[in-house]
Amino acid sequence: MGRPGRSCQRGPHSPTASLQRTGPGLDTMSAFTHVSFVLAAALAVATCLDVPKVHLSSGGDMPIVGLGTWQVTNDQELETALDAALQSGYRHIDTATIYRNEHLIGKVLSKWLKEGKVKREDLFVTTKLPVYGMRPADVPDFLNQSLAKLQLDYVDLYLIHMPFAVKREAYDNGKINEDGTDLSTDHLAIWKAMEAEHKAGRAKALGVSNFNETQIERIMKQAAVPPANLQIELHLYHQQRPIVDFCKKNGVSVTAYSPLGSPGSKWLALITGKELPDLLSLADVNEIATKHNKTSAQVLLRHTVQRGIIVIPKSSKPNRIQQNIDIFDFTLDDSDMAKLDALDKGLDGKLFDMKHIGGSEKHPEYPWTALLKK
Ligand SMILES: NC(=O)c1ccc[n+]([C@@H]2O[C@H](COP(=O)([O-])OP(=O)(O)OC[C@H]3O[C@@H](n4cnc5c(N)ncnc54)[C@H](OP(=O)(O)O)[C@@H]3O)[C@@H](O)[C@H]2O)c1
Repeated sequence: MGRPGRSCQRGPHSPTASLQRTGPGLDTMSAFTHVSFVLAAALAVATCLDVPKVHLSSGGDMPIVGLGTWQVTNDQELETALDAALQSGYRHIDTATIYRNEHLIGKVLSKWLKEGKVKREDLFVTTKLPVYGMRPADVPDFLNQSLAKLQLDYVDLYLIHMPFAVKREAYDNGKINEDGTDLSTDHLAIWKAMEAEHKAGRAKALGVSNFNETQIERIMKQAAVPPANLQIELHLYHQQRPIVDFCKKNGVSVTAYSPLGSPGSKWLALITGKELPDLLSLADVNEIATKHNKTSAQVLLRHTVQRGIIVIPKSSKPNRIQQNIDIFDFTLDDSDMAKLDALDKGLDGKLFDMKHIGGSEKHPEYPWTALLKK
């Protein structure tokens, strides 16, 4: 696997070097009102930190590339992936209670921390309140469980995973019962409990995932600590321009989940009856990749990052993990960006409607009502 930090020690193609000469990309990124990029200055450990970061409204900086960890099939695979990611310079890890892998992430991170190969303040760990923990009293309970598994005193970002809810007892051993919907969801009461965790220092930043604009706005109006991040499905076929613009205006950073179009989620086609798109094989994407001597995955990720959006691609393969963060030594020019922008299919490009989560579409906080009319 090579020694720690090996692939962080980049030469002329280092992210820092490339950002200094990627004017158009950087301009686009800094268009976020409250989002700025911090380029790390020091060397040694800091050579791993030269991945650009997005400043969060509540303080702190979030690396613009993180490792997604959903649907890794076995424990050893995840441990290998995490080691490879940390060696490749990732410092941002995305997990969730419902992924049931926090204990493995904790095991690997604690090894790296104990061996002095990484400092806690250089890591950025996100986890999420589960859909079956959507009552205020559940917040400290689930966050404490996550922290124990992660072997951390705090997470860098705590997200409400879904705006809708299922009853706690409807979740059993990784499965959510068909009609476990909990209709009593009160986002403002949950947010107050989230704020208490922030105040206590157990969650450095707070955010939401899969929320729509109305739901975010309602929280923002009441919040002492407004949401610092929104995590949503976002990729070439579902570019999410309206909600990204809304977030830009309101100082909410955006994280793109499934930034490669989730090609591993083959099961999705069985549920939805729709074929899973193969964004990595699109002719335009391949053509742009050849032009820049990069891979299709790198073009897809760069397209999103160049819009100032954080990406969390998942891979279990060390070579792909390395590849997915090596996106700072080239810039997509205006014609590349226009070509890729034009492939947006809006709502028709959305992959995940989350209807497979016990009766979610019947819940009053189901966020994508336009999908229900289709
Ligand atoms: N908040 C939410 O509700 C939510 C929902 C979905 C996902 N997420 C988060 O977002 C992360 C990413 O989303 P995702 O896992 O759905 O999809 P994704 O990152 O778009 O795609 C992952 C798939 O792409 C493959 N892949 C990765 N890098 C590649 C490369 N360079 N070339 C070719 N194929 C590559 C992976 O296969 P290999 O592993 O075999 O390389 C895997 O099958 C998740 O892991 C999770 O952390 C959050």
